[in-house]
Amino acid sequence: MTTLDASHTVRLTVNGEAREVSVPARRTLVDMLRYDLDLTGTKEACSVGVCGACTVLLDGEITASCITLAVQADGADVTTIEGIAQGGELHPVQQSFIDHGGFQCGICTSGQIVAAKSLLDANPSPTEEQVKAWMMGNLCRCTGYYQILESIMKAAR
Ligand code: FES
Ligand code: FES
Repeated sequence: MTTLDASHTVRLTVNGEAREVSVPARRTLVDMLRYDLDLTGTKEACSVGVCGACTVLLDGEITASCITLAVQADGADVTTIEGIAQGGELHPVQQSFIDHGGFQCGICTSGQIVAAKSLLDANPSPTEEQVKAWMMGNLCRCTGYYQILESIMKAAR
């Protein structure tokens, strides 16, 4: 057994719930969310921190969970796509993506919505240029981005 196989206990809050998971040192955050906590809404596409599909909020900061180790989230507050809706109500960004066709295949959508929510929390009335700049790290191979931009702008106040 190598040190990479040794188990580490990670205690964190995920979508407002305290969780404790035992993981090997090499476990990525996205794998811990998907395979240890069954939170499969977070997707993995490029696996190298480029596409944004795996975006979650780690202590409120946009984070690529594919290049973050699970142990780095010890003690942190993590928000995934499953934590965006509140009280059974979709977040306005989620509803807007539905209303304005902000997705097709859906692989990028969790990350797009988590990133867009983070933007609107920080800046509830962004300009189109501010949305484009903020969303630069979230790639989409389907929509051509126009509907994503429209969805976020319509969700903004
Ligand atoms: S899957 Fe993490 S950035 Fe692409
Ligand atoms: S909806 Fe398919 S990659 Fe964005």
